[in-house]
Amino acid sequence: MEGYRKKVAICGSRGFGSYLARAILETGEWELVILSRNSQPDLTASGIKVKPVDYSSVDSLYHVIKRQQVDTVISVIPDAEVQLNIIDACLMAGVRRFVPAEFETSPEQRPLYVSGDKMSVLARLEQVSTQLEYTAFSCGLFMETFAPGGWSEASNSYNYSWNDGSFLLDLKHKKALLPVDNAGSLETVICLTSAVDVARFVAAALFLRSWQPEMKMFGDRLRLRELLEVAQYVRAREFKVKVIPEDDIEFQILRTPDWKTQRELQTMRNILGHEYNIDKRYLNAKFPDIRAITFEDFLRQYWRASTH
Ligand SMILES: NC(=O)c1ccc[n+]([C@@H]2O[C@H](COP(=O)([O-])OP(=O)(O)OC[C@H]3O[C@@H](n4cnc5c(N)ncnc54)[C@H](OP(=O)(O)O)[C@@H]3O)[C@@H](O)[C@H]2O)c1
Repeated sequence: MEGYRKKVAICGSRGFGSYLARAILETGEWELVILSRNSQPDLTASGIKVKPVDYSSVDSLYHVIKRQQVDTVISVIPDAEVQLNIIDACLMAGVRRFVPAEFETSPEQRPLYVSGDKMSVLARLEQVSTQLEYTAFSCGLFMETFAPGGWSEASNSYNYSWNDGSFLLDLKHKKALLPVDNAGSLETVICLTSAVDVARFVAAALFLRSWQPEMKMFGDRLRLRELLEVAQYVRAREFKVKVIPEDDIEFQILRTPDWKTQRELQTMRNILGHEYNIDKRYLNAKFPDIRAITFEDFLRQYWRASTH
């Protein structure tokens, strides 16, 4: 890595990208540049370096990344075509490490037949792993899903509004809609981590000498039944609970024309498929000083016992 500095580029300025930027700057050890489709004057005004890029052009990406002498590139852009272009540019520019836009389910837990955006990016990374070290960070569901306004509000994202705070649990109205397997049970495991903690683990992992293809973490690990119990405990009220059986989920995914509902149903299907069951706390063990918040403590930051 001759000539390369301790410098990270984050592709994507908002959403989880802003959490990462904060955590990386907080280490005080890394220079940061954000690659964005726009000039982002608000970020520049707060002292963050932003470089506008054209993600459709590998050449344009290559020139920016090369000129910036970046060591590690982190993508928060879920689009596969964009990520494949970034990977090509990283290879041309001799970047050492790349992080794809995962930060959610465990690739190891995905069914073998599954294809799609995330898998095509991971397949490409595996192909080029001798030139470009990579890792997929797996953390389960962001706890911010259950903050008021959900991830949309927590992430200040202008193009990602599938979650309005009523997915699985509606803490405001004390309701729940939970997926049940074909045996009718609420025993499926779901792992959750606050996006703040995920970003801190990612920032810490930048200092690791070598990376595994997947690095796992979680703040809490609960059965769906326990997820509901914690929410009810924090709100001090019983929730009105509806369940949706596995077969109905598949049927409704095909039937609904609404993109937001489709995303929610697909996520429920993936929960029942155990993709949110992160089996190891690899990064929690590596970085014991990072004390990831529990689901109950997270909810208590936002929600009080209900008075009605
Ligand atoms: N575990 C969870 O529960 C959970 C929840 C939400 C997200 N995530 C994960 O976190 C990552 C980021 O998600 P997010 O919600 O933060 O994403 P996002 O808000 O949709 O996008 C993040 C940034 O990427 C850039 N971008 C988005 N779409 C683009 C496109 N088509 N072409 C070029 N740039 C694009 C934008 O930055 P510029 O405008 O600056 O170019 C945007 O601000 C993903 O890997 C996602 O799977 C996990």
